[in-house]
Amino acid sequence: MTDSERAQSSNRPIGVFDSGIGGLTVLKEIIRMLPRENTIYLGDTARVPYGTRSPETVIRYSFENTKFLSTKEIKLLVIACNTASSISLDAIKKSVSIPVIGVIEPGAKAAVKATRNKRVGIIGTDATIMSNAYTNVIKALDERIEIYGIPCPLFVPLVEEGWTEGNIATLVAKEYLKGIKEKGIDTLVLGCTHYPLLKKVISEVMGRGIRLIDSAVEISDEITKTLEALKIIRKEGNRPVRKFYVTDAPQKFLKLGERFLGKKINHIEKVTVWI
Ligand code: DGL
Repeated sequence: MTDSERAQSSNRPIGVFDSGIGGLTVLKEIIRMLPRENTIYLGDTARVPYGTRSPETVIRYSFENTKFLSTKEIKLLVIACNTASSISLDAIKKSVSIPVIGVIEPGAKAAVKATRNKRVGIIGTDATIMSNAYTNVIKALDERIEIYGIPCPLFVPLVEEGWTEGNIATLVAKEYLKGIKEKGIDTLVLGCTHYPLLKKVISEVMGRGIRLIDSAVEISDEITKTLEALKIIRKEGNRPVRKFYVTDAPQKFLKLGERFLGKKINHIEKVTVWI
């Protein structure tokens, strides 16, 4: 690649997709680590949740999202959704020529590094836990690690209602996490886009000394390394462009999204990504 081609590639945006709004927790970390990068976010708000759907459907949705983002000349694709990453990452990687990064591997690697007693808990949607994606990556890295997975589907609507603290969130967390707590884990993977917003409650319920792994934080490291290796980090000083696309209800996304992102959302557009 010549210097000018590299500069051109650097300016192309990072594409991020999620089933809806939750992936903004991932985008937030990407922006924190790589503030100069142009970004395009697609939230498939018309078809959320993915976590209760069959693998075939999640794969189809993931392909349609990827196709849409590919028309935007992205230089790297991030699958911010844990459910979509669990089920469709390999297939998507094979279908495009740009690097594709999902949340599972970075989160799993961080858990392996963090655990001292080799007992790790994973929480996520039904589809993520059923897929065993985290378990497979963790076991491949260290087969001695014992893994306990629990789906916590109610955490998603709780976060979307804004009930990230207080009695209800604590009660639900206590109920979901009691089984996993009894297993004596020392590390818990927050394997869903929404769960980082419940970190405080989850940490209180799990008690001191339990390390929470936030896949959103871990993936940003992986993205930085990939862009560095390809020498396509954007270095230009002018303001990066951030575009947001949704498949339904842009106003609702805007309202909730600014809370998830902790930033103002300026450009938002409703699009159709399927035929
Ligand atoms: N984004 C999904 C995930 O991380 C959670 C919401 C959904 O079920 O679509 O698994």
